[in-house]
Amino acid sequence: MSDRHPRSDIEPLVEPLAEVIRGPRVAIRRLDHDDALALHELVLSNLDHLMIMPFAAHEPMSLAERHDLLDGWMSDHARGLGGAMGIWVDGELVGMSGLHRRSARPDEIEIGYWLDEQREGLGIAAEATLALVDEAFNHPQVAVVTICADLSNHRSRATAERAGFRWVSTRPTPPEMRSPIGTDVEAVYELRRDAFDPTWRQRFA
Ligand SMILES: CC(C)(COP(=O)(O)OP(=O)(O)OC[C@H]1O[C@@H](n2cnc3c(N)ncnc32)[C@H](O)[C@@H]1OP(=O)(O)O)[C@@H](O)C(=O)NCCC(=O)NCCS
Repeated sequence: MSDRHPRSDIEPLVEPLAEVIRGPRVAIRRLDHDDALALHELVLSNLDHLMIMPFAAHEPMSLAERHDLLDGWMSDHARGLGGAMGIWVDGELVGMSGLHRRSARPDEIEIGYWLDEQREGLGIAAEATLALVDEAFNHPQVAVVTICADLSNHRSRATAERAGFRWVSTRPTPPEMRSPIGTDVEAVYELRRDAFDPTWRQRFA
């Protein structure tokens, strides 16, 4: 979510992402400047919880810097490179998720997520992940969705596994994706189109 300057060899999505992506309980949509204050307050009230995220190295940001970040995400969206989105439950912003074109492989897209600490333990990240996978596979060019989590991040790795992803490799974390408290080694998970369970919504009804 912090890497908003994808390399020039990365191909954009052919079709734009859906404006709103829904699960049974969650709504995921692109963040814009109207969301800046809510996002800002949510991040600042979760600083310790979010230390494992790459962007934590740049926190605490000012509200003006948060607006700059939003500009970058909106530009990524417009360029077909995916982008960071908010997760809403009952109209309240509870975290972030997103689909990101980070790999040079044109058939691959990556999911990232974080939640308000007070919203952990309810399956919200797993549901958001599956809603995003569903959207990703609406794009014929996408064959595989990935999640990368620091080796020490057991909750994130459990979410990936809960959503049906399988652990495929371990590798050094790219420098721009390292976090203040990570091991600098990441577990890479993937979910291939043919392994996706289209009945996933039943798990969250
Ligand atoms: C990673 C993170 C998003 C995971 O949040 P989470 O709430 O644990 O994730 P899930 O959505 O998978 O929810 C799983 C929990 O909800 C419970 N749950 C309740 N209903 C559920 C349902 N229908 N389906 C799945 N799980 C459900 C599970 O039993 C599990 O509870 P447990 O952890 O007490 O065993 C969160 O810990 C976080 O924001 N961490 C800091 C940032 C971070 O690490 N981001 C990822 C970077 S790679």
